[in-house]
Amino acid sequence: AGSLTVAELAEKLHKETSELIKKLMGLGVMATKNEALDKASIELIADDYGVKVEEEEIVDPLDIERYEEEDDPANLEERAPVVTIMGHVDHGKTTLLDGIRKTKVTDTEAGGITQHIGAYQVEEGGKRVTFLDTPGHAAFTTMRARGAQATDITILVVAADDGVMPQTVEALNHAKAAEVPIIVAVNKMDKENANPDRVMQELTEYELVPEAWGGETIFVNVSAVKGEGIDELLEMILLVAEVEELKANPEKRAQGTVVEAELDKGRGPVATLLVQGGTMNVGDPIVVGYTHGRIRAMMNDVGRRVKTAGPSTPVEITGLNDVPQAGDQFLVFADEKKAKQIGEGRAVRAKEAQRRQTSRVSLDDLYNQL
Ligand code: GTP
Ligand code: MG
Repeated sequence: AGSLTVAELAEKLHKETSELIKKLMGLGVMATKNEALDKASIELIADDYGVKVEEEEIVDPLDIERYEEEDDPANLEERAPVVTIMGHVDHGKTTLLDGIRKTKVTDTEAGGITQHIGAYQVEEGGKRVTFLDTPGHAAFTTMRARGAQATDITILVVAADDGVMPQTVEALNHAKAAEVPIIVAVNKMDKENANPDRVMQELTEYELVPEAWGGETIFVNVSAVKGEGIDELLEMILLVAEVEELKANPEKRAQGTVVEAELDKGRGPVATLLVQGGTMNVGDPIVVGYTHGRIRAMMNDVGRRVKTAGPSTPVEITGLNDVPQAGDQFLVFADEKKAKQIGEGRAVRAKEAQRRQTSRVSLDDLYNQL
C-alpha cells in the first residue's frame, strides 16, 4: 500500500489534474499536483467518480501449483480441522484459546517444554483439532492476501453480557467471504447478566440462525474462565469437520502456510509452519515465501523435537536463510539445488519490487522539494 500524488491519481482516473485539484478544494482539501494524498482522500475522490480503490501490494504468492505433485485421490486421508477464533475486543478470544489448551493438551509428559509457537493441537475423543493462535483477523486478511487459506472453521466468540458488536460483524463477514463455516461460542455464561438469547436474536439478523430456531448455525454456550462448554465446543468442531470431509495427501512433499516467524538470537530465523498437505521431514530442502533453506530442526507445539509432521500439524522449524512473513506459503522440494535456485530467484524479484516502491517515494519527495 502506498500513497499517490494528485497527479498520479488523476492519471489513474483518466482525469485532468486541475479537475482533481478543484474537486479536492470542494472537499476542503488544499493540494498541489505533487502532493501526496492520504488513503481517505484517495477513496473520497475515487468514490466521487464511482471508482473502487484496490490497494496495490507486492504479493507474489509462491506458485505452489506449478511445482506441486498431483494428488492421487487414493492417497487422500482424513485430516484435523484447522480452527481460528474471532470476535469483538474483550469478548474472550485469548481466554478461550488458553482454556482449550489448558484443559486439552495431550502431550504433558516430562521433557516437553510448553511454549508458544503460534498454533497448537488438542485431542477430543481420539480426534485432533488444530488451533491457530493468531488473531483471527490477521489470519484472514494477511493469509488471504497471499492466496493462502489456512482456516477450515471459525469460532465466533460473542460475550453473552455484551452481545453483537462492530467487530463481531466484521469477523462474521470475513468468515462468510472466505466461505469458512462459523460456530458461535457464546462466552462469559458465568456472568450474572449473561443473555444468550439476545446474542442469538442479534446474530439472526446476520443470517446466523441457531439450530434451535430452525437454522443451521451451531451455538455453544461457554465460560472460557471456568472451562465450561469446552468439551461441547470441541465436539461441535469435529461434527462440522466431518461434514466438510477435510482430507489431505500425506504421501507427498509438504506444502502449507507460515503462521508466524521471527529472528532468534541463537537459532537464526525461526518459523512456525502449518503443514497443509504432504509430510515434512527434518533435512527437507524448502522454499518459504522469499526465503529458502534446509530444515535443520523441527519442534511441535509442546516444544518436543520431532522428525516428521503431517497434514494439519503446526511445527516450528529452523534452517532458513532469512525470516519469512506470516501468511507466506511454503513448499518442500526434492533437491536442495532447485530449492535454492527458486528461493534466490524469488528473493531477487522481491527486492526489485521493493526498490521500485522506494524509488517512487523518493521521486515524490524530490517533487515536493521543487
Ligand atoms: P482482545 O484480544 O483484546 O480482543 O480480547 P479477547 O477477546 O482476547 O478477550 P480476553 O480473553 O483478553 O478477555 C477479556 C476479559 O474478559 C478478560 O478480563 C477475561 O478475564 C474476561 N473473560 C474472558 N472470558 C470470560 C468468561 O468466560 N467469563 C468471565 N466472567 N470473564 C471472561
Ligand atoms: Mg486477545
